[in-house]
Amino acid sequence: MPQPHLRTVVVLAAGEGKRMKSTLPKVLHPLLGRTLLGHVLSAAAPLAAERTVVVVGHGADQVRGHLSEVAPDATPVLQAEQLGTGHAVRIALDAVPDGAGTVVVINGDVPLLRPETVGALVTAHEEAAAAATVLAAEVPDPTGLGRIVRDADGRLEQIVEERDADATQRAIREINAGIYAFDAVRLRDALGKLSTDNDQGEEYLTDVFGLLRAAGEPVAVHVAVDHVETLGCNDRVELATLRRLLRDRINEAWMRTGVTLLDPATTWIDVTVALDRDAVVDQNTQLRGATVVGAGALVGPDVTLVDTVVGPAASVVRSHAVGAEVGAGATVGPYAYLRPAARLAEKAKVGTFVEVKNTQIGAGSKVPHLTYVGDATIGEHTNIGAASVFVNYDGVNKHHTVIGSHARTGADNMFVAPVEVGDGAYTAAGSVIVDDVPAGAMGVARARQRNIEGWVVKRRAGTAAAEAAQRAGEAKGAQRVGEAKGAQRVGEAKGAQRVGDAKGASAAPGTASDSEAIHGVTETVGGASGPGDTATE
Ligand code: UD1
Ligand code: CA
Repeated sequence: MPQPHLRTVVVLAAGEGKRMKSTLPKVLHPLLGRTLLGHVLSAAAPLAAERTVVVVGHGADQVRGHLSEVAPDATPVLQAEQLGTGHAVRIALDAVPDGAGTVVVINGDVPLLRPETVGALVTAHEEAAAAATVLAAEVPDPTGLGRIVRDADGRLEQIVEERDADATQRAIREINAGIYAFDAVRLRDALGKLSTDNDQGEEYLTDVFGLLRAAGEPVAVHVAVDHVETLGCNDRVELATLRRLLRDRINEAWMRTGVTLLDPATTWIDVTVALDRDAVVDQNTQLRGATVVGAGALVGPDVTLVDTVVGPAASVVRSHAVGAEVGAGATVGPYAYLRPAARLAEKAKVGTFVEVKNTQIGAGSKVPHLTYVGDATIGEHTNIGAASVFVNYDGVNKHHTVIGSHARTGADNMFVAPVEVGDGAYTAAGSVIVDDVPAGAMGVARARQRNIEGWVVKRRAGTAAAEAAQRAGEAKGAQRVGEAKGAQRVGEAKGAQRVGDAKGASAAPGTASDSEAIHGVTETVGGASGPGDTATE
């Protein structure tokens, strides 16, 4: 029985990535849910290596910081000067001086690499008891890459960098993918013998193969089934190409598990996202981070969800959500913005031009239009009137608002937190609610309306508005006069205007009927137009 192999993974991530032209180290550029480095680490994760060493250099602090988040068990090792890939591996192994086993080296910039492919490389290497095995691929365009040079028997002779290659070698389309498995002892030995006698004056890791071969050690080539996996990333054009390729891979996988993607070309799903069966994703949609979409939910078109959980059968249309939870059967949008800790319970609704932050919206409750809800708790089956603002911030502190269940708040309300509206309470349209409204009460907090009749004709004479007012007065006057028995002769303009003026003069504010409307006591009209009614069903 062969001993299980002790494995060490070394990821090379010290290079600057000059052609990215970025202040961000190349390996930290994001690609559908992980950084380039994150993708490489997750491809290596199933190897269950005893230890993982990441060689850092350019932007070392940033890379270390990222590692502490995504791979706290990995050991960063500093390569202060980038003297080549061979030098980088030497420094990495100096940091883990003990031991035999297998050393797996992966360039930090090959994000499409699949775990299965790394696994197959390592298994082939260990089963063959090779000194070194390189992952190779046949590519349409080998420009810039190291070439696999084989002997007459097809065995690996050496790996030659393009800039050191002759014309015959440059014609080779089988390339070094930058992923290798080595026997630890023989690797250490060979690394000590590397020269810098090449076009770049660097220690090339790839020279280990020629050295081992020359020493009569068994070296091997493992050919990748799909060359796309071995694509590196050197500039932002390549990064965009990799992103499209990864998008297609991810989308195809989800469609095969029973998710409908109406337009896969405009659907961007991070590798970290999960979707349940019969979810439907409409076009121009980005699902990012820890987002989860439940069974039968509809997301899109034009939706971005970041770290957001969408329950089964919910729908989110033309909206943006970050760190939110949308309950089963709940509806969001079109044009909603859900911010962190916006939590919609089952069948809740957040409608159009509504922003919600740090708020629990209870089952069946609705916030249908033009509203900001921040730092609040809303009970069940409550309706929040259109154009309301939960005034949560006094310039120094944030305060909480509580709205009970089965409450109906009026349109255009301000809830000045901290404040509480009880179960079954109403508030009148246009209210600024600064004091608690007890359960079942009608809260009214607005100035009484008064109309200054004839003001426009008097104070804005000669304007279009004044003329329109005058015409309206004449028409009304004519109608009244016309209605009056035997008064047809009086239907001339001047008379009508006088009647109109007189009517205006008599309609001063403060009549009994005005008063009822102001207080929102509308039972007189059967409750059909209560002040809190926002016609939002
Ligand atoms: C390397 C290979 C080449 C292969 C290609 C695949 C060598 C000499 N050549 O070339 O045969 O076809 O990858 O993509 O290895 N790095 C360090 N420290 C250094 C130098 C590099 O950590 O001193 C890291 C880089 O950050 C990068 C990786 O090693 O992640 C590869 O380095 P890079 O300069 O991109 O090598 P290539 O020229 O692409
Ligand atoms: Ca490279």
